[in-house]
Amino acid sequence: MHNYKRRFFKLIIKELEQIKEKLDEGYYPQWVVTDPKVYKLEQEKVFGKTWQFLGHESELKEGGSYITRMMVDDPILLMKNRKGEIKAFLNSCSHRGTRLCTEDYGNKKAHTCPYHGWTFNLDGELIGIVAGNKVYGEKMDKSEWGLRPVPRVESYQGMIFGNLDPNAMSLEDYLGDMKFYFDIMLGRSDGGMEVRGVPQRWIAKANWKMTAENFAADPYHVQTTHRSATEMELTPSDPLYASYGHQVVLQNGHGINVITSATGESANKYQGMPEDMWPMFERNLNEQQIEVFSKVTNFVGGVFPNLSFLSSGSGSEGVKHNHLNWRVWRPIAPDKIEIWVWYMIDKALPEEYKEKSYKGFLATFGAAGTLEQDDTENWARIIEASSGSMSRDRKLSYNNMANYLMGFDNVERDENFPGPGEAYPTCYTDHIARSMHKYWLELLTKESGGED
Ligand code: FES
Ligand SMILES: [Fe+2]
Repeated sequence: MHNYKRRFFKLIIKELEQIKEKLDEGYYPQWVVTDPKVYKLEQEKVFGKTWQFLGHESELKEGGSYITRMMVDDPILLMKNRKGEIKAFLNSCSHRGTRLCTEDYGNKKAHTCPYHGWTFNLDGELIGIVAGNKVYGEKMDKSEWGLRPVPRVESYQGMIFGNLDPNAMSLEDYLGDMKFYFDIMLGRSDGGMEVRGVPQRWIAKANWKMTAENFAADPYHVQTTHRSATEMELTPSDPLYASYGHQVVLQNGHGINVITSATGESANKYQGMPEDMWPMFERNLNEQQIEVFSKVTNFVGGVFPNLSFLSSGSGSEGVKHNHLNWRVWRPIAPDKIEIWVWYMIDKALPEEYKEKSYKGFLATFGAAGTLEQDDTENWARIIEASSGSMSRDRKLSYNNMANYLMGFDNVERDENFPGPGEAYPTCYTDHIARSMHKYWLELLTKESGGED
């Protein structure tokens, strides 16, 4: 690392170390939300070290299938080769660096660069150069000019992740006990899940930490922010309805809310999925997973840093149809994100169910969905109200601390919850939020070691 960069990081790390105590006490200084220096540090210490979601295996159906994605600010090309292996490369031509593949998805035998026509195969090897022999002579060894692979690519339950750190812990270790809940959401049906359509995406004024926290840790906002859904009788009028169930804190900043109804069960077993699928669920999941899944209404949670999910039922013609949506909050700037949303459904479901479920999803959490709009409004206003000199005052002269005190000393852990993790018997608590922010600070203030 260059000296100036080291000095720059040292200063900001020193400042961040001073907020550790505050975080431990349940406070979160407002200035860190949109601070450009913190954002720079996050690029390196958070997004450069953790597992980033790239896509689902169902998006790459056969040899030659490809999709293009972003890992924060790196364009990525994922391809399935003829052997059925999925590979991920920087989507940048090794000749002059232009974006190699310009489409969102498709199927090709090879990718030819639009600039000077170099061609790469499904394993990222350079296989063709326009007029190669004549213009480059003997010295040009094509094997040295392949695409640059993402250092680590691993998947779990069909979810493909990449990591820029070659020494990172394995994806499975990173997910830890989240795997138990992934198995329920993604592994309950024979044939697994499939992505329908392409991920929707749009730009929003927001900071990635706030959106990640909203999904992973904040059922408390539902009754107020999404009040219109209650008024339309899409959601219950009980102001505590999103609190029932358990908030579960997992390792590495991950967390999940297992929301039930007031009775601790769900009015619709297995999230209202068709009864003829129940024996399949019971065959594919273990006893504890069945206990959780049979009672849950909604799962909502997050994989640190910026992957969130919601598994819920959406109303369509008076009947609720289950669906699973995943979202990546891709940071673009301290006050800007690109939201990517995938819709997923059990492959084993009948087509008619899938169609209705998809419509329900579009009406609620698609780009133009009513609930989505409610959230986006608040996230933009956080930015607006957190960017001025009073709110960004680092000396905290104005007492500008956000409040993460819910459940701090009045909610005890429930040891009887059947799933792994630290479970608390309400979802109106800030346990996951505190854990996420603590892990974030731990990564930001960690010594990098070994860097030049
Ligand atoms: S930049 Fe790709 S062939 Fe020149
Ligand atoms: Fe919301």
